[in-house]
Amino acid sequence: MDTKILYVSKDLTGKDDIKNLTLASEIVRNGGLVAFPTETVYGLGANALDDDAVKRIFEVKGRPQDNPLISHLASADDIAKYAHTAENDYFAKLAPLFPAPLTVVLRKLPLISNVVTAGLPNAGFRVPENLVARKFIELAGVPIAAPSANISGRPSPTKAEHVIEDLFGKVDVIIDGGPCNVGVESTIVTLATDPPVLLRPGAVTLETLSSLLGQVQISRAILSEMNNDEIASAPGMKYKHYAPVNPVTLIMGSDDKVIPYINKRCETENLAILCYDEDAGSITECRNIFTIGKADDPLGQARSIFDALRATDECSFITGVLARCPESKDGVNLAVYNRLLKASGFNVIKL
Ligand code: TXA
Ligand code: MG
Repeated sequence: MDTKILYVSKDLTGKDDIKNLTLASEIVRNGGLVAFPTETVYGLGANALDDDAVKRIFEVKGRPQDNPLISHLASADDIAKYAHTAENDYFAKLAPLFPAPLTVVLRKLPLISNVVTAGLPNAGFRVPENLVARKFIELAGVPIAAPSANISGRPSPTKAEHVIEDLFGKVDVIIDGGPCNVGVESTIVTLATDPPVLLRPGAVTLETLSSLLGQVQISRAILSEMNNDEIASAPGMKYKHYAPVNPVTLIMGSDDKVIPYINKRCETENLAILCYDEDAGSITECRNIFTIGKADDPLGQARSIFDALRATDECSFITGVLARCPESKDGVNLAVYNRLLKASGFNVIKL
């Protein structure tokens, strides 16, 4: 298939931005697949009201059939057209946060089909902050069902180049709107249970949700491994995720333990290292070092984590990846730790 790549500037000030977005929105409304930037990761969009188009998302990504999709809307007011919001007090408390890197799960109305929700009675909704994403959805005039625009299991795409690597020739359009600001997928909270449950951590933190909603539970799948036959509240959480080609091991501990440990391993093994900016100078025994931001900057780490995981695929002859992971689970650290845990298949060495 011929894939068009369309460039659109982040602030929509480019000469051809609206023309390009109008073309992409017509293609998606008429059943095509369009990859588009959001503030979290790139999404692979289809018209959520067109079952055949939505089915193609599953085929192109190689996505398990039981893993539901999030519907993306241009305005929080639109959520009421597709889900029971009026009687949900929790929704009223979170609605003012939109647009945001946040997905709310609500009891769906019939307009959202079982193909989108993989047969679940509830559906996920998100209003992206990214201007390009919102203009694209607004011009399409329909909700856009979109998972991350990667082949299932690979690290999520945070640059148009990542989408091109995975999906060129398989989709109608890739909108290149530059790198994603947040870099990890949206926070998902279900408001269809009482109390609400955090299903996936992201840039909208558990602390923020708790302050607005009162009690919020944390899904077990965020910090521990699920069996494939276990019923996950967010089905996507049980699958192997974000994995580069080489096996990832997480290293947790203080500088005085982690740095010597990494150097020692690298004396005898050819490894790639993911570490904090401050660590790079002290890791003397390794040639494949990828920094993921400052130790005390989880937002910076979130922004670069998937790009760094993907970059390790380019290293020749390595046998594995050692990745430094946060000890704190506060704020955005929880999202960074969760993605690294999944990339490693829950393989953590605590020093
Ligand atoms: O930031 C994001 O959310 C990105 C961008 C493109 O918006 N999208 C994204 O989609 O991460 P995806 O499909 O890669 O991850 C969606 C997650 C899956 O784990 C899925 O199981 C969960 O959301 N999910 C979707 N609908 C759900 C529902 N009705 N109930 C529970 N979990 C749901
Ligand atoms: Mg995904």
